[in-house]
Amino acid sequence: MTNTPILLREVRLYGEGEPVDVRVRDGQIAEIGAGLDADGATVVEAGGHILLPGFVDLHTHLREPGREDTETIATGSAAAALGGYTAVFAMANTDPVADTAVITDHVWRRGREIGLVDVHPVGAVTVGLKGKQLAELGAMSSGKARVKMFSDDGYCVEDPLIMRRALEYARGLGVLIAQHAEEPRLTVGAVAHEGPAAARLGLTGWPRAAEESIVARDALLARDAGYRVHICHASTAGTVELLKWAKSQGISITAEVTPHHLMLDDSRLETYDAVNKVNPPLRETSDVAALRQALAEGVIDCVATDHAPHAAQDKCCEFAAARPGMLGLQTALSIIIDTMVRPGLLTWRAVARVMSEKPAQIVGLTDQGRPIEVGEPANLTLVDPETHWVVQGDAFASISDNTPFEGLTLPGQVRLTMLRGRITAEEGKVNAL
Ligand code: NCD
Ligand code: ZN
Ligand code: ZN
Ligand code: ZN
Repeated sequence: MTNTPILLREVRLYGEGEPVDVRVRDGQIAEIGAGLDADGATVVEAGGHILLPGFVDLHTHLREPGREDTETIATGSAAAALGGYTAVFAMANTDPVADTAVITDHVWRRGREIGLVDVHPVGAVTVGLKGKQLAELGAMSSGKARVKMFSDDGYCVEDPLIMRRALEYARGLGVLIAQHAEEPRLTVGAVAHEGPAAARLGLTGWPRAAEESIVARDALLARDAGYRVHICHASTAGTVELLKWAKSQGISITAEVTPHHLMLDDSRLETYDAVNKVNPPLRETSDVAALRQALAEGVIDCVATDHAPHAAQDKCCEFAAARPGMLGLQTALSIIIDTMVRPGLLTWRAVARVMSEKPAQIVGLTDQGRPIEVGEPANLTLVDPETHWVVQGDAFASISDNTPFEGLTLPGQVRLTMLRGRITAEEGKVNAL
């Protein structure tokens, strides 16, 4: 399928230098230069805004199959495109669980039909996410979806022997294992970060050690397997120290941090509003500071949203009964601007690194997170850094509206998203196939 050529007039590549024009043709970047002729192309006046490679989210929950009342591949794809994403990895904790090629291929196909973002299914590491028996990673990785990443996210691969075998098997296939680091024996009944806030409010705590003990263990298992492991949603200062140590030993370990863990802390618990309930829980200000620093320094490799839609009846109930998780796709960029760019911790060039290039490299995507150069695939995001907007959950493309940022004024907006040369979102509207 060919689309009409597009000329992006006056963009600043990575927010650097003088504005240039970018011509996109046949899904690729065809020409970059000042004052290019329209030459029959559709002209987009970009007004000097920032052009970045399309964002890649290693951690998205799309809820299809099973909970289409909270999100579908279509609505989640729309949210992703509006958030500036050109590829998302859809976690396996659906119903049924994505533990066979039948399910992963279905998710892949649905994503292609919708065409707003590349939806890469994540396969389960173990059958039914039960942690007992390895799923058929080989069949999923050689299926139509070419599954590149496996995770039991929602649950930890708790048994060290299963985790060891998963890493060894993954090494043979060249795929990524992503761990939800939570020692379940330390989080029985836990609903919030174990700290002074939860103690005062009478909430059962999730200690930092529940995460850190698994990060340490898996670093050692990765060392012995001679193969990489990826840590989902890093949330504590101790995890940062362990990542530093493991990397200094030459261990192949990568980690992601969510926008909400970079922004929010456990003072949010005061209201008992379960919109703030998430796994791992919102930690303390000292953890937030350590996570920001780690992302700036590359100790934490990338940002991932952990976009986790939930129905109102599963959120607007007593804190202990509510499901954990919060929306992320349409607020991620603004939170990164607010927490990292404005304070001078990340340049725009580095935003491209943590939201696009690194995640693509970690999972081995060869067509995403590419440099903005002639001949490269036109997977691009145009960002207006100056504007502000007010978060309104029910205005999101997601079916659910469980955002912890409701009512906040946030900086920056995605003006346009392009997937292989086709505009998928523009000025807050998606452009369906
Ligand atoms: C996720 C979900 O809702 O599926 N919830 C969450 O609190 N993050 C599962 C997960 O990421 O562990
Ligand atoms: Zn998780
Ligand atoms: Zn998750
Ligand atoms: Zn909505």
